[in-house]
Amino acid sequence: MVQAEKERIAKIGKVFNVKKYIKNEIEAIRSQVGDKRVLLAMSGGVDSSVCAVLLQKAIGKQLTCVFVDHGCMRLNEAKEVKRIFKGKFGINLIQIDAEKRFLDKAAGVTDPEQKRKIIGGEFINLFADVARDLKKKFGDIEFLGQGTIYPDIIESGVGGHKAVKAHHNVGGLPKDIVFKGLVEPVKYLYKDEVRKVGKALGIPEEMVMRQPFPGPGLAVRCLGELTKEKLDILRKADFIFRDEMAKSGLDKKAQQFFAVMTNVKSVGVTKGARTFGYVIAIRAVSTSQFVHAGIVELPFKFVVSVAEKIATKVKGVNRVVWDITPKPPATIEWE
Ligand code: XMP
Repeated sequence: MVQAEKERIAKIGKVFNVKKYIKNEIEAIRSQVGDKRVLLAMSGGVDSSVCAVLLQKAIGKQLTCVFVDHGCMRLNEAKEVKRIFKGKFGINLIQIDAEKRFLDKAAGVTDPEQKRKIIGGEFINLFADVARDLKKKFGDIEFLGQGTIYPDIIESGVGGHKAVKAHHNVGGLPKDIVFKGLVEPVKYLYKDEVRKVGKALGIPEEMVMRQPFPGPGLAVRCLGELTKEKLDILRKADFIFRDEMAKSGLDKKAQQFFAVMTNVKSVGVTKGARTFGYVIAIRAVSTSQFVHAGIVELPFKFVVSVAEKIATKVKGVNRVVWDITPKPPATIEWE
């Protein structure tokens, strides 16, 4: 048995018991952190959300969470995070509206890799600024909280999992932002176990069962230059699609489903008048490991009604296409 597996069993036992796990983890966090402070970057995804609530229960006000809105979040995302985590759980949460800062930085950039790098780099700059400010206010913040889960450890090479993985948003912080340690309360859990812990902690179902959402957010689904106009259109279209999927129960069949702003404009007609609007694509995939992905066979009538709804309700859109390409040869995201 490999080392990481031994560690996992030592931590959670042979059979996973949610209540026992929560109780033990709260004690483990308290003994690791003592009276020191923890800073956690929250994305609104299930892993960092469960970490936040576990940490809150363990150390309360010694925890500060930071949620950065980089302008590429889904509709109402920042509001929902605030309502649930600040409102319901009383978490010490700092929300930063950095839409303008990110969009200004990415202005004029169309290359997909460049866009990713700008968002990733700017995220680190901003998080580092917040950490510096907080250090001025509180003195040292000893620990950085992270929503690492067991598959991350497996992927990063069993045993050699000391380095913070590149795909984590706060990996690669500048040298003056040093933390004495990492707190990773869900590090030995698989995703389904993280979800069970989240439910037992009282995190709402819609948050716990969320589909994965990439760090750069809608930036990888908004082709061409990132502009507020295009992102707002995408947010509305994406909301309609996800809402219809949830209402019809089809969300249970897909691991990821979303809308894409293609950046292509086409001619249409509304009440007899010519329009020139964006083409939105919709995509729903089924996958277990995200390395390969198949297409979810959405009922044709459903697709047609979603297309009609998006093309008539979202201003600036007059055409919807359905992406039915598996991975490979496509990837799940468009960029
Ligand atoms: P692709 O598009 O490569 O996506 O088939 C595979 C899975 O990874 C997610 N993804 C990302 N997640 N940062 C992330 O945190 C990223 O830059 C990123 N790019 C893709 C994607 O949503 C899918 O689940």
